[in-house]
Amino acid sequence: MKLLIFGDVVGKLGRAGVKHMLPVWREKFSPDVIIANAENILHGKGIGPSQLQELRDAGVDVFTGGNHSVEGKDVEKILNDENYPITRPANMRADLPGRGALLFKVETKNVKLLVVNLIGQVFMHQEYSSPFEAIDKILEQYQGQTPYIILDWHADATSEKSVMGWYLDGKVSAVFGTHTHVPTGDAKILPKGTAYISDIGMVGAYNSIIGVEIGPSIERFAKKVKNAKNPVDTGPIEVNAIYLELSDNPAAAGQAVDIKHLREIVTEYRI
Ligand SMILES: [Fe+2]
Ligand SMILES: [Fe+2]
Repeated sequence: MKLLIFGDVVGKLGRAGVKHMLPVWREKFSPDVIIANAENILHGKGIGPSQLQELRDAGVDVFTGGNHSVEGKDVEKILNDENYPITRPANMRADLPGRGALLFKVETKNVKLLVVNLIGQVFMHQEYSSPFEAIDKILEQYQGQTPYIILDWHADATSEKSVMGWYLDGKVSAVFGTHTHVPTGDAKILPKGTAYISDIGMVGAYNSIIGVEIGPSIERFAKKVKNAKNPVDTGPIEVNAIYLELSDNPAAAGQAVDIKHLREIVTEYRI
């Protein structure tokens, strides 16, 4: 099974970046499933029906999320729709809308893919319950249903992220980090067959600070002022993703065969 997975898609430029590179990488890799982290698609924060539809029309099959998943337009309706292929981190408060895991039918392979989403506890602005307990529970709940299991691990600290990768080595097909918006150069396959990367990186403005305007961000840190965080919506786009290949061999089904980080700086595109 081949997968193409985009990191956090930030605002209008993020959506334009996915729309620009998806056909190029689809041609090159022939992915069976295309996934994108959608927590920032709505003007940098949260989700919205038209923005999700825009990416579905472009070819994205499944959406994952993060701390901003529960912000935005018609959030409850979208996240609670059993037929909508979208997750939010499983270890968020139970009273929030949405689900932390979903089984997606991969038509080209006639198998199911379990997509799980978790959020970290280190350096986050809110408190979340244990992601380790949450994944144990999910793996038990879905035991025997499919060997193809991937985790969008939405966390800040590379230490915490790495711990989860090794905790799940041999138990899931892949653990890929999101949330920092900055790609890491550590894509690898762990000894027991789990593909790992600390962070895929965003799809968003190249001349920006994690997707948002530079001047106000500098003021926020240097002068300690509280100001709006608006995404940059002009200029080049950096498009970060991973290509992931999982074994279809019955003896090793679901084990990672390849993980490659993909990065493209796009200067000419359509909005
Ligand atoms: Fe994000
Ligand atoms: Fe996030």
